[in-house]
Amino acid sequence: MTQKKTLILAIETSCDETSAAIVEDGHIIHSNIVASQIKSHMRFGGVVPEIASRHHVEQITQVIEEAMTQAEVTYADLSAVAVTEGPGLVGALLVGVNAAKAIAFAHQLPLIPVNHMAGHIYANRFEAPLNFPLMALVVSGGHTELVYMEADGIFEIVGETRDDAAGEAYDKVGRVLGLTYPGGKQIDEMAHIGQDTFHFPRAMIKENNYDFSFSGLKSAFINTVHNAEQKQMTLDKKDLAASFQASVVEVLVTKTIRACEEYGVKTLVLAGGVAANAGLRATLTEQMTACLPQIKLMIPPLALCGDNAAMIGAAAYISYQKEEWAAYDLNAIPSLEIDEK
Ligand code: KG4
Ligand code: ZN
Repeated sequence: MTQKKTLILAIETSCDETSAAIVEDGHIIHSNIVASQIKSHMRFGGVVPEIASRHHVEQITQVIEEAMTQAEVTYADLSAVAVTEGPGLVGALLVGVNAAKAIAFAHQLPLIPVNHMAGHIYANRFEAPLNFPLMALVVSGGHTELVYMEADGIFEIVGETRDDAAGEAYDKVGRVLGLTYPGGKQIDEMAHIGQDTFHFPRAMIKENNYDFSFSGLKSAFINTVHNAEQKQMTLDKKDLAASFQASVVEVLVTKTIRACEEYGVKTLVLAGGVAANAGLRATLTEQMTACLPQIKLMIPPLALCGDNAAMIGAAAYISYQKEEWAAYDLNAIPSLEIDEK
């Protein structure tokens, strides 16, 4: 007898992308529609929460319909509806949560709440099954964490940023260089044609813990630029970008490798928007091959590094198998932690 396939409609609206996807058995993408709002936030230099919520309301129905049409499924084919419950902007999250609740209620489907950061980790599941124990370096616009996983759906934060997230630091220094929001990708591109001539600090690199700090680096960067401006000197923006990136990458890679060694993991996964960073992907690959060749390194394809609903569908499949459904009073939790139950 062939087993019935599990088709999950997943919804993601935690920040500035309205996304819906149809995912089969947690690892096959039938559709993954992502409507980005970046253009609307660009002129403000960052995401404006009220504008984000309004765009989600305008887009959500259409994005869900498009995901269903592209996957050629009807509501009767679905096994469950999954949605990001947090972390994220409350007004943005609520749009997805309410859409998911309405669909679950109308079609009598299980409702599965998903942690956005768990989603980023499970974006790797589309490449291959995850082998445990596993370490995840999760780097996004709002988070920078090292997460240890003993098994599917079990998360332990072993280190995190004490101040800015890596992506946040990228976007802030991007603004200082006059780049449009979000600056991360542009700095990454400039870094590849510049040199690390400024040797910015590598905060907490030698400390005996797995925490990070990027605010000192950000200040060092800003001070360097402002001091030069006062002396009417022009600094090479490509070298500034390369120096900033060298510092971020060295700290992330060094501490991640140390954590992998200490926890004796089988797999290291990279996750989150900053996982798209070419410098980070290359250095991590190079260092892991040199230092820990026995550990499998998984890096998501570029299309699944940023926010998308397919990754939410992959994470939801774990909860689906455990029948971890939510009731209709499901709420958005803006500061939800990955290790919270
Ligand atoms: O995961 P994500 O899409 O949204 C959050 O959950 O926060 O991450 C967005 C972050 C932004 O800060 C953006 O600048 C950064 O990821 N980012 C990058 C690159 N591409 C996106 N940072 C560095 N290098 C990149 N290539
Ligand atoms: Zn994200």
